[in-house]
Parts: sequence; structure tokens; C-alpha cells
Amino acid sequence: MLLSAQNRLLIKGGRVVNDDMMQDADVYIEDGIIKQVGLNLHTPGGTRVVEAKGHLVIPGGIDTHTHMQLPFMGTFAVDDFYTGTRAALAGGTTMIMDFALPQRGESLVEAYHRWRTWADAKVCCDYALHVGVTWWSDKVGEEMQELTEENGINSFKMFMAYKDTWQLGDEDLLKSFKRCKEIGALAQVHAENGDIIKENSRKMLALGITGPEGHEMCRSEEVEAEATNRACVLANQVGCPLYIVHVMSKSAADVVSSKRKQGHIVFGEPIAASLGTNGTHYWHKCWRHAAAHVMGPPLRPDPDTPRYLMDLLANGDLQTTGTDNCTFSASQKALGKDDFTKIPNGVNGVEDRMSVIWEKGVVSGKMDPCRFVAVTSTNAAKVFNIYPKKGRIAVGSDADIVVWNPHATRVISAKTHHQAVDFNIFEGMEVHGIADYVICHGRVVVEEGEVRAVSGMGKFVPTPSHCPHVYGRVQERDRTNAPCKVERAPYDGPVTQLNGQGRVPVQESGIMAANQETFYTRGPTRSGGVNLHDSSFHVSGAQVNDKSPKRPSVKVNNPPGGKTSGSFW
Ligand code: URP
Ligand code: ZN
Ligand code: ZN
Repeated sequence: MLLSAQNRLLIKGGRVVNDDMMQDADVYIEDGIIKQVGLNLHTPGGTRVVEAKGHLVIPGGIDTHTHMQLPFMGTFAVDDFYTGTRAALAGGTTMIMDFALPQRGESLVEAYHRWRTWADAKVCCDYALHVGVTWWSDKVGEEMQELTEENGINSFKMFMAYKDTWQLGDEDLLKSFKRCKEIGALAQVHAENGDIIKENSRKMLALGITGPEGHEMCRSEEVEAEATNRACVLANQVGCPLYIVHVMSKSAADVVSSKRKQGHIVFGEPIAASLGTNGTHYWHKCWRHAAAHVMGPPLRPDPDTPRYLMDLLANGDLQTTGTDNCTFSASQKALGKDDFTKIPNGVNGVEDRMSVIWEKGVVSGKMDPCRFVAVTSTNAAKVFNIYPKKGRIAVGSDADIVVWNPHATRVISAKTHHQAVDFNIFEGMEVHGIADYVICHGRVVVEEGEVRAVSGMGKFVPTPSHCPHVYGRVQERDRTNAPCKVERAPYDGPVTQLNGQGRVPVQESGIMAANQETFYTRGPTRSGGVNLHDSSFHVSGAQVNDKSPKRPSVKVNNPPGGKTSGSFW
């Protein structure tokens, strides 16, 4: 086949960085796919050459969490799938993962198709979708299966906040986690206690606190940490791998880290905002400035938070990075000028994530370039089951590549950024690390700072279910930790006769206690002692003879996911 130079590209003289190795190598690309990696490559005449001497050649960034043109809180996010993905490319991100979020009662499949229609026409880079489970019914469970089997969805986001719109209670969370496990999907949660937030918001407004500081004060760190812990426990109880989106606080990050140490399969996603700035801005005297930072969960007033989260990201306690890019301009934020609960939640980040993480992570000496690649691209590709098509520079992978200049600097500003929003939460931050060239599907879409992206150029990337990086351990766990019954000779002693209310006098039951009025309706504790839950029961009513046996004891072998009782995997 005769190839045009357009389809052939050689990235020459750079240092290729993957999550596990660095090598000085050239990269040859044909038709959007990496064909050769090495030195002294033989390439056809007419191949376009991109000079990468002194630069790093890294996999294109994957932003795991965006909300382009999200209909939210009465308005639409101002960065749509065109401006948002164009800005992503400018910053070195070649793939985003957005969320199709149905209204309560709405079909998940219909919401998915709506998002596909919006995105397909506009995206400049590749994208995948997570789907929100914003309500529960059997139909929702069926649609989750349909989406994984037919529509390339392998992750579902459940909200523990946004009471009255998207919030699920514990029972529905459990059902959706169980369903995720059955269909081999990854459960994601927005972890904040929505009931507490609602109550605290009411209190705050009653006190006359109507400004953006009220947004943080009614949802302090423990509100996020409690929900994070609860989500981990619920997911672990049903053996479902879990992904905590937008980890915003030290406390929530500590929960993820300690649950992982206990053996839970849980992943944590800090975002550019939580790694790059903090919540002191909510107390800024300029209302517009303060409101620009309003998002949920909020940025934290503890200014040490970004450093702490970056440490956890560097050492592996947290794994991926997104942005939760969901932008609203001044006039939209002003919907809440007299009431912080009406300020549309969301901040920018899709364009600046790579630079902010390079600056705070690599320039600070917390992570090396390999770890940078892991947390900005490779880990996302692994967790969402698109690796090594994405997230790696290797023969056969998609040619989504950034020629990264680690030494160049720029100052982030809303005046120069490519996003549609009129504010940048990183305004004035000087960052090293610039995407000199960005190659998406083998096409040079950013060249020395110039973005040449075309609307609709990106593709939907299906994410297959049963990801080995997520579910690889689950089957074995289920097998090795299946509850097993203790084989023993049947009990042949006297059996308490119960009346209709489940109580019986001691004398008739045959169980004697020091206090003649105390009865034991539950079995003894494992050590054979008295069950304290039952120690204050009193007699009343007539007795019936119930010969039903006690519950058999169960044994759990080495429960991963902790010593929590009832954890069967
Ligand atoms: O403030 C936020 N996070 N806005 C987007 C919706 C969400 O919860 O992710
Ligand atoms: Zn969220
Ligand atoms: Zn979000």
C-alpha cells in the first residue's frame, strides 16, 4: 500500500519513558499505530521526522474524570467536548474519560447514547465513558449488563452525595456494587455523606453564611472520609473492586491507603485541583474568586493537603489522576451569589493536569518520570482495561504520544489557556514541563504550542469488562475465602422451647444462669462465652416448642480485605 507522509512519523532522538523503564529510542509510527521502537530504525522515505533531542517521549495523558458540557445545577458546563478535548491536547492529554449521568428514573442506555451523540461530533481526542447509577431498579441492573456487553462500558459511578438528585442510599449502593461484580465492572463512588451535607447546609444558611466558605464548612474532611470508609466496607462485603473518584482530603486518602493495606481492592484518584491548590480560596474576599473553586468534595483548607496527596500518589497508595474538569464561568457561578448551595460545582484542570503533576510531583523530587507516566496515563489504561493499546509506548500500541520538554516553563493563566472557562484555579502558577508536540493516533495535533485539532477527530474507546488488573485477584479470593461449614456431630442435648415472642423461662430452657431472669436466645460466642447482646433479656409470655437448630458456625480462611467479620473474599 502506498502510504502518504501524513501517515508516517518518526520521533527521533528522544528518551522514551514507560511506567517501568526509560530508554533512548526513536519511535516509528504508521497509520496511527507504533510500528518500531529502537535505535537506527529503517523507515520509508518521505517519513515526517519530529526532533525530540533532549526531550522525553511519553504516552499521551489519560484524564480519568471529566464532565464536558455536563447539564448540572440548572446550567451546562461551559467547556464542551470540543473546547475541553482541544484544551486536553494542548496540555498533553490524548484521552479523556467522561461520565454519562442519567437523571433519576431515566434509562442508563439512553443517557449513554445521548453522551455519545454529544461527544462523537466534537471530540478532538479519544474518549471513553463511565456511566452513572443515579437510581436503582432491576431495570437499571439489566441496563448495566447491556452497557458492559454491548456498549463498551466497564465502570459505573455511584453518588453518595447530591441528595434529592443522584444520591444512593446504602441499600442501593450495595445492590449496585453487587451488580458491578456480577458483570465484571468497576464500581466508582463520589464519596461524601449527602445527608450530613444537606443538614449542615441548612444550618449554615440559617446562620447567614451564604458565601462559598459555607460550601466547605458544611462538608468537612470527615464527611468525605466517612463516606469513603463506608463505600470501602460495602464494596468489600460483596467482593466488588472499588474506585474512589476525586480524592480531595488527607483523611479520605488515608482511608484508601489503609484499606489497601488490609487487602481491599480499592483505587484512589486525586485530581489536578487537589494536588495543585487548596481550599483557603473559599475565604478569598472576592466572591467570584472564591466561587470559582467551589466543587464537591471541596478543596481542603489545610494547605498541606496537596503535598500529602502527592506523596501518596508517588508511593503507590493512590494510583490514577483525573481532573473532574467541570467548568462554569462567572455568570454561571453567580447563580449562587446569595446562596452557596446554588453555585454550580466544578473546576478546570484538563489542560493543566500534566504540568501541575510534573511540577509538584517530579520537579519536587517526589516521583521519577516513570512514576509520572504511571499516574498520568499507564495506571488509568490498566485500571480501565485498555492497556497496552493506551498508556504505553510499544510496538502495537496506539500512537498517542507526547514529546515532553521537561525544562521549559510556562505560567498558567486563564488569559492564555485553551479552555472556554473564564477562570483558572492554577492562575499564576509557574510550571516546568510543556507538551512541545502531541501526537494523537499518529497525527501531530500540537506543534510547538500550536493546537491543530479538528472537531470529531477523536474516537470512542470501548472499555472491556472483567479487567485483569482489577478482577484478576477476585475469582481466586472468592474460591479461597468461600465460607465453609464446620462438620460436627449433631447436638443432642435439651433445646429451649420458645413461645411466640421468642422467650422462655430459664427453668424450661435447660440453660441455667446466675440470674434466673436472664435468658440467652443467641448462641454462645466463639470462645463459648455468653453473648453479651442477650444479657439483659427478660421473661414474658407463654412458650412454644421450637426445635429449629441454631445457625451453623462459619469459618473464613484468611479473609483479605481485613479482619472485619463477614468479609468472605
Ligand atoms: O464539583 C464537582 N465535582 N462537579 C462535577 C460532578 C461530580 O461530582 O463529579
Ligand atoms: Zn463526583
Ligand atoms: Zn466528577
